[in-house]
Amino acid sequence: MWGGRFAEGPSSIMREINASIPFDKALWRQDIAASKAHAAMLGACGIVSADDAKAIEAGLNEVAAEYEADGVPEDWALEDIHMTTESRLAELIGPAAGRLHTARSRNDQVATDFRLWVRDAIDQVDAGLEALQRALVTRAAEHADSIMPGFTHLQTAQPVTLGHHLMAYYEMIRRDRSRFADARKRSNESPLGSAALAGTGFPIDREMTAQALGFDKPTANSLDSVSDRDFALDYLMSAAQCSLHLSRLAEEFIIWASQPFSFVRLPDSLSTGSSIMPQKKNPDAAELVRGHAGRIVGTAVSLMVTMKGLPLAYSKDMQDDKPPVFEAANLLGLSVAAMTGMVAEAHFRTDRMRQAAELGYATATDLADWLVRQAGIPFREAHHITGAAVKLAESRGIALEALSLADLQDIDGRIGEGVYAALSVEASVAARASHGGTAPAEVRKRIAEAREALGMGG
Ligand code: ARG
Repeated sequence: MWGGRFAEGPSSIMREINASIPFDKALWRQDIAASKAHAAMLGACGIVSADDAKAIEAGLNEVAAEYEADGVPEDWALEDIHMTTESRLAELIGPAAGRLHTARSRNDQVATDFRLWVRDAIDQVDAGLEALQRALVTRAAEHADSIMPGFTHLQTAQPVTLGHHLMAYYEMIRRDRSRFADARKRSNESPLGSAALAGTGFPIDREMTAQALGFDKPTANSLDSVSDRDFALDYLMSAAQCSLHLSRLAEEFIIWASQPFSFVRLPDSLSTGSSIMPQKKNPDAAELVRGHAGRIVGTAVSLMVTMKGLPLAYSKDMQDDKPPVFEAANLLGLSVAAMTGMVAEAHFRTDRMRQAAELGYATATDLADWLVRQAGIPFREAHHITGAAVKLAESRGIALEALSLADLQDIDGRIGEGVYAALSVEASVAARASHGGTAPAEVRKRIAEAREALGMGG
């Protein structure tokens, strides 16, 4: 396709290092769609004859049918998906195929194909994330009243509800979806017609191809268009941040499934056994989601480093943009699906969670709050008095509410009988009814809003 000025062909090592067909064949649908849009535009603008435009379109349909049936052939001599398709088109329709590349370069072609691919990937991951949100909301509604210990520093802090905990992940995924949507919106401009770097002298209609491919408009600067990979980076950085959330959720399940916690029994379908220890049930899917986050973050770093030193416009380094994006999409898709299954099917041990919430003096803050509210004591002093009560209970190995009133009054005479009502875990969560707090009534409001946003009914 470009041999005119060369006396010799490339060495085998040149062919191998140059070939992107082993991975960019994944772009074949987008490449065919963009070529069809380009050919129709060339015909409509009178740049190629109507007959040639028709022949090219029919030929591209035939190539697509072959790819669909038999896969894309991998011939390193043809370098990439663009030359592979054009070469097959020439075999099928003859010299008219040579007119397809008028007013186009592989530089704007690959930029267009790849934007289309990333756009599809965003739509796919968004659907997956929505399903995960639905699972979270459904399980949160089931467990709006299920009390568990809330942690800071992974130390028992205050009682919360499992519903509240699950809805925290709903919020993270909501932000992830909005990041992907933002990336999609910003990248939905068509580079096609920027040609090699400077635009073209042919009277093309960039609005027409942009519209045919579902882009909002053509890009504004041809140099930027062929050398911009921000759309891929926006996708990878959104994917990276999303993978952190999935990894944190996976980590919760891993901790909760461990025997000392036993907060959850993982679904058999997402666990594995040990080849030596018959009793084991391992949270491998969750561990791999946690592991994949590292690889997904790596893909974003990889493309940033590829791009950082490149002058305008296209450089061949940019061919390395695709493997990280394909890898991220694959790993993220698997991770979202695994966590959706985990959330939907996990058996939560609410008995164990409640038991754990009752240990660890999770309602100590409620004692301090009671002293502030009922006895008018400044919070700092109340904090100190409560500390003494916890110390006493701990020395006896009993819960706070197991201390007698006489014991409590020995610590501070202002403590009265009414304090016991504040010390139960139920009273503790019910009291935290501030907006976004863990009180079941409050959590139910947030669940109703989420259901509404997801179209699940109020
Ligand atoms: N396979 C190439 C890529 O993915 C297509 C663009 C080639 N352009 C060029 N000037 N050699 O980047």
